[in-house]
Amino acid sequence: MAVLMLVWCVSVFLLLPSATAQATTFTSNVDGKEFTTFSFPKFDKPLLQLPDNLTFSGNATIAQDGLQLTPDSGNRPEIFLVNQAGHAFFTAPFVVWESKSSSSSSNSAAAAADGKYVASFSTVFKVNLFRSNLNKTVKGEGLAFVVASSNARGPPVGSHGGFLGLTNASTDGNATNGFVAVELDTVKQRYDIDDNHVGLDVNGVRSTAAAPLAPLGIQLAPRNTTVDDGICFVWVDYNGTSRRMSVYIAKNESKPSAAVLNASLDLSTILLGKTAYFGFSASTGAATYQLNCVRMWNMTVERLHDGTTTTATKLAGTSGWKLAVGVLCGVAVVLGVVAALYIRKRRRRSGGDPSSAFNAAIDFRKIPGLPKEFDYMELRRGTNNFDEKMKLGQGGYGVVYRATVVGEDGRSTDVAVKQFSGANTKGKEDFLAELRIINCLRHRNLVKIVGWCRQNGRLLLVYDYMPNGSLDRHIFGEPGAAALDWKQRYNVVAGVASALNYLHHEYDQMVIHRDIKPSNIMLDSAFNARLGDFGLARALESDKTSYTDMAGVTGTLGYIAPECFHTGRATRESDVFGFGAVVLEIVCGRRVSCSDLPGWLSLLEWVWKLHGAAGGGGILEAVDQRLAGEFDEVEAERLLLLGLACSHPNPGERPRTQAILQILTGAAPPPHVPPSKPAFMWPAMPVALDGDDDDSETPTSRSSMLLTSSSTGWTKIFQVSKEHDVAEKDVAAE
Ligand SMILES: *[C@@H]1O[C@H](CO)[C@@H](O)[C@H](O)[C@H]1NC(C)=O
Ligand SMILES: *[C@@H]1O[C@H](CO)[C@@H](O)[C@H](O)[C@H]1NC(C)=O
Ligand SMILES: *[C@@H]1O[C@H](CO)[C@@H](O)[C@H](O)[C@H]1NC(C)=O
Ligand SMILES: *[C@@H]1O[C@H](CO)[C@@H](O)[C@H](O)[C@H]1NC(C)=O
Ligand SMILES: *[C@@H]1O[C@H](CO)[C@@H](O)[C@H](O)[C@H]1NC(C)=O
Ligand SMILES: *[C@@H]1O[C@H](CO)[C@@H](O)[C@H](O)[C@H]1NC(C)=O
Ligand SMILES: *[C@@H]1O[C@H](CO)[C@@H](O)[C@H](O)[C@H]1NC(C)=O
Ligand SMILES: *[C@@H]1O[C@H](CO)[C@@H](O)[C@H](O)[C@H]1NC(C)=O
Ligand SMILES: *[C@@H]1O[C@H](CO)[C@@H](O)[C@H](O)[C@H]1NC(C)=O
Ligand SMILES: *[C@@H]1O[C@H](CO)[C@@H](O)[C@H](O)[C@H]1NC(C)=O
Repeated sequence: MAVLMLVWCVSVFLLLPSATAQATTFTSNVDGKEFTTFSFPKFDKPLLQLPDNLTFSGNATIAQDGLQLTPDSGNRPEIFLVNQAGHAFFTAPFVVWESKSSSSSSNSAAAAADGKYVASFSTVFKVNLFRSNLNKTVKGEGLAFVVASSNARGPPVGSHGGFLGLTNASTDGNATNGFVAVELDTVKQRYDIDDNHVGLDVNGVRSTAAAPLAPLGIQLAPRNTTVDDGICFVWVDYNGTSRRMSVYIAKNESKPSAAVLNASLDLSTILLGKTAYFGFSASTGAATYQLNCVRMWNMTVERLHDGTTTTATKLAGTSGWKLAVGVLCGVAVVLGVVAALYIRKRRRRSGGDPSSAFNAAIDFRKIPGLPKEFDYMELRRGTNNFDEKMKLGQGGYGVVYRATVVGEDGRSTDVAVKQFSGANTKGKEDFLAELRIINCLRHRNLVKIVGWCRQNGRLLLVYDYMPNGSLDRHIFGEPGAAALDWKQRYNVVAGVASALNYLHHEYDQMVIHRDIKPSNIMLDSAFNARLGDFGLARALESDKTSYTDMAGVTGTLGYIAPECFHTGRATRESDVFGFGAVVLEIVCGRRVSCSDLPGWLSLLEWVWKLHGAAGGGGILEAVDQRLAGEFDEVEAERLLLLGLACSHPNPGERPRTQAILQILTGAAPPPHVPPSKPAFMWPAMPVALDGDDDDSETPTSRSSMLLTSSSTGWTKIFQVSKEHDVAEKDVAAE
């Protein structure tokens, strides 16, 4: 409430009711009622710069100038587009009803027989739904405007598919959900009228009222984007007096005179409390996916006052809203001072050095999307005061401990805590900015970051705990670690490739990993690969690459691409080189740096020699003896050739991650590999193609993870109109 008042009052004072700002909030007074209006003319700020007024959960993000409730990109539908669900809510809650006793003078006349006064609201938003290029017959599942009692839950487990991110098989229809949604549904479920309708959902996805859109000539998620851009405008009006909701939909900005849906609905009996959050939810299904994007959102809500602000309400009623502004601003100022004092106290208690840039950046901590900031004491307790017994391992940047902390659901969970040793965290704001990007990266083959903590200049990052530890334990025969069978090994390679493709090409901002090696690849409980430590090299050292640190360390040299010793900078090609080394290690069960091979050959040279030997069939000799012949020969040869191709001395000759994925799925033949290892040439042949290989070690771009903004990138499947077709051609040309 305080936040809302502050935003509201500041906006009034700055007289900001214009659409020139990125997003604005203001109040107005019509017929003796007060309204709060907020407006997002577009969503063009990267998540990083977005103010604190939207809260994201699940797979929702901001990209391509839109609020993407489910991801907008990916070349692999089975991984990036299917089974997604996301929410985005306006952060501040609104009071949507009050009982007669607490509502005073101004509104009481309108209170109904049940003694409740319910707020009216109206909203208009522009949606952009359309199908993927990958399979034009496929669309789904849908997008919904939501009025919810809570914005904290996020899409429940299992809420993808027909549940639209709202409920799941066990919670659907339960009154404890406390929400109302207006769904734009593009898949016909058993209980749906068709696959192109608008519906009113109360606590579940079986609509209480629905209307087909075909009669209006509207096709949600159209098939041909040349004919139809997939844009619709949707208006949702709620009359709190008559307690009716009406929905309008049109292809352009002019609101139709007739509602497509008009139903009676009592928010005060559905919501669990008097406040509600407004926002959106969407999902894709297992074989059904589409762009679920909101491009503009205006909302006006009648202002009610809950019991605690009765004084302000009274004043507003008798002496006009200007006085109320004054009073509320007074309250806001007091709250602001209290908050500032509290923050100062907290800051002092957390023991930071008050003069550092880190502490000056206090607001940074509040940016949405930063992972949770942990209390140092909690981590200390959780690791038993950083007990040796809790140590999981020691990596390039520090020591990793296992810890038990209280999770979001209130139950204790295991996490991995990485304590960075002497990390140069001098660019603290940069660090937090990058931490935020890392936090936004979501992929099933990346280790999820859970939180962070800083104590006396020492940095700790908290990750999901991976019960099976790192890959090296399992492929190099560490005692006590389960050896991986062939299927598991292949799956690990595919997982790492998929994660790398996501970092390099799928995510909005290209991320270079820089440190691909088996000790950075974790295995989850099902032995799926989870790439860790991504993006950190840059976050921790703003003027060094991890290569300079690694150069002196034995055992990691084999992962560094030869050109890096000349350029000192990491690229996508150097990541692919590291990946190639890991592939060879996984198949051969030996370290790239092993020294027991005939002729003192390195692993790479040895495998290449076996490949080049007469006939080429000898390459399977390289496969790990521990598998005792239990492997698929076609797959093994494929992986070995892939490993060699990725280890090509010339960066321009190494395959890209999309090609790697195709090879792994068998959609493309194994790469052609010359019979003997080519000589390293410097300068390397230029890498042409899409021309975005520039590393951002240039002084102008501080944060080198933000290599490209791929808004014109062909990696995006979903592109509006012309860009879209170009994209298709480029993919085909690849
Ligand atoms: C949204 O609000 C802005 C500013 O309040 C206004 O300029 C714009 O026309 C509105 N858009 C629609 C579709 O009503
Ligand atoms: C979002 O927050 C920013 C700054 O905190 C503010 O200027 C802007 O008006 C807010 N937008 C909305 C829609 O509330
Ligand atoms: C597209 O998806 C449908 C339904 O899943 C499937 O039957 C069809 O074979 C797919 N078409 C292509 C070209 O993949
Ligand atoms: C539904 O969601 C709830 C809450 O998130 C969860 O506890 C439950 O296991 C989920 N049920 C299914 C079938 O996924
Ligand atoms: C509804 O949810 C509540 C709490 O999650 C649970 O106790 C109750 O059994 C559920 N009701 C039904 C009918 O499933
Ligand atoms: C889309 O519609 C345009 C115009 O009618 C037509 O030229 C084009 O072939 C269509 N594309 C597809 C993929 O159907
Ligand atoms: C809301 O409904 C009431 C009662 O039906 C009506 O008098 C009023 O004009 C409606 N308000 C709006 C904004 O349509
Ligand atoms: C908006 O669409 C309606 C119906 O499709 C049409 O009658 C109207 O002329 C359009 N208005 C504008 C401004 O394009
Ligand atoms: C909705 O339906 C009610 C009852 O049929 C009617 O009185 C009202 O005018 C309708 N409202 C709109 C916006 O169509
Ligand atoms: C979508 O969210 C789920 C659950 O948080 C997560 O497991 C998955 O990796 C996310 N997918 C993407 C592509 O972000």
